[in-house]
Amino acid sequence: MLSGRLALVTGGGSGIGRAVCQVMAREGARVVAADLNEASAKETAALLASAEHVGVPLDVTSEESVAAVVRGVRDRYGAPADCVVNSAGINDDSFLVNMIAAQFMKVLDVNLKGTFLVTKLSTNAMIDAKIDGSVVNIASIVGKVSSIGTCNYSASKAGVEAFTRTAAKELGRKGIRCNAILPGFIDTPMVAAMPEKVMKLLVPLIVLGRPGRPEEVAELAAFLASDRASYMTGASVEVTGGYGI
Ligand code: NAI
Repeated sequence: MLSGRLALVTGGGSGIGRAVCQVMAREGARVVAADLNEASAKETAALLASAEHVGVPLDVTSEESVAAVVRGVRDRYGAPADCVVNSAGINDDSFLVNMIAAQFMKVLDVNLKGTFLVTKLSTNAMIDAKIDGSVVNIASIVGKVSSIGTCNYSASKAGVEAFTRTAAKELGRKGIRCNAILPGFIDTPMVAAMPEKVMKLLVPLIVLGRPGRPEEVAELAAFLASDRASYMTGASVEVTGGYGI
């Protein structure tokens, strides 16, 4: 499905990002796993078991870091990535009454500004190289369905959805499609860190009765990145097991 394609996956060292790297490599793409945690990005590349895949350090909140990765990909492979998946993300939950501004902004910085920087610089590189491409942004169902204690996170993810639609509109005529995925509760280190009592309340609200697996999100990311989704842009697709319907 992705043979001949070159993928850049942020947050590629863990959870959903790592699963995206694995599914995209299985589908024939060469994969650059990029993560703040360089060791975990390199671990992902090692799991893919071919020298054409690499793991690189990236801080999505830093324009210099994003520019260096985009340049590095072009230098290494002779072309920019034509599949970009923004999966890097953090949460830092607290009730609104207790949330401090720095905590609010930290989450927006990674989840929203990071998505902006990676999308801007990588699609500029596609346009310069005159190639078509696809951007997949990992938003969240929490950007749409309310969730107590996540005013920073939910605002950032609603922002990612809105950003994706505008990017899709501006970039469509340049051959670049942009779509968002809204996962529900997916079994990754991020969700493992949630208090057990919260999960006990949440799981009964999931129609399929269980959290999702990272690869169940990754399969959709690979599809959206591929030409099989050639008429999809500006869409937000839910992968929630029915949570929030
Ligand atoms: P995770 O915590 O397993 O992975 C996130 C990765 O992002 C980590 O490897 C981390 O090092 C990296 N990262 C954090 N800050 C970064 C930065 N400044 N620059 C580059 N990399 C950075 O989390 P998970 O669950 O795999 O989440 C992936 C994405 O999916 C996130 O955007 C998250 O908000 C979103 N999501 C996750 C859900 C879940 O239930 N796990 C549900 C809905 C959305």
